[in-house]
Amino acid sequence: MPSPYPAPATITSLRAALVSQGYAYLRAFSPDATGRSLVVLGRTLGSLHVPSDVDPAHPVLKTHPAADGSYLAPFDRPEAIGWHNDFSTHPERPVLSLAYLARPDPLGPEHGAWRVASCNRVLDQLHATPDGREIVRFLLDTDLPYSFTGDGTPSLFRALEPRGAPPGRLGMRFYGRAIRDGARLAYGTIPEEIERAVRAVEGAADQVGHVLAAPPGALLVTDNWHSLHDRLPQCVDPNLSLRCSLLCFVEALHEPLTPPGL
Ligand SMILES: [Fe+2]
Repeated sequence: MPSPYPAPATITSLRAALVSQGYAYLRAFSPDATGRSLVVLGRTLGSLHVPSDVDPAHPVLKTHPAADGSYLAPFDRPEAIGWHNDFSTHPERPVLSLAYLARPDPLGPEHGAWRVASCNRVLDQLHATPDGREIVRFLLDTDLPYSFTGDGTPSLFRALEPRGAPPGRLGMRFYGRAIRDGARLAYGTIPEEIERAVRAVEGAADQVGHVLAAPPGALLVTDNWHSLHDRLPQCVDPNLSLRCSLLCFVEALHEPLTPPGL
């Protein structure tokens, strides 16, 4: 059995990718589908978030695709999740999400693939047009209602706020479904200016984002303030051996991610 401990060079290049683009992708991270290597990597980077009902000694969520997957587990549902970062409805958010692909989608690489986009590039794309600049101002200045459950009272957050280094850099809190559900709950319908802003972010991410092949053993690490990610539609046929992903979350880093020279 190979060592679950990541090589120092792996950590260095992973952290460098997180600094420069807000995400890191390792196509051949580990053959260890137990999740142990994933947890060891997470603990090397920081303290781990323990989801409710999960063993603190092995704080990993395993996905189970199903036609009737819970609304509260978008990673289990057949449709694409849509551009988001994780824990967008939580006031305090785990800083990193680690997604490991234990088993690929049986229908081939276009199914269940990851998409990822750097928030810096999404913002650059928006800043390139007058309409986009107006959307950025709106997202900086407006409290938006968010709901993860689609029920109850939404929480108010700004989708854009100063975060991280260098000073003035913006971080993004975004999940189209949660903002649309929050707006429905708050206003009875989605105000046109909110729908327009959500669509603009999603459209910019479509423009600058990448689809990442997710072969078994691949790992995607995303900074929840500085990248958006997505999972494309996945097979839920119970007669097939379905896609399986392991998810682990870093609550806080041992060392901040700092651009060179700062
Ligand atoms: Fe996610």
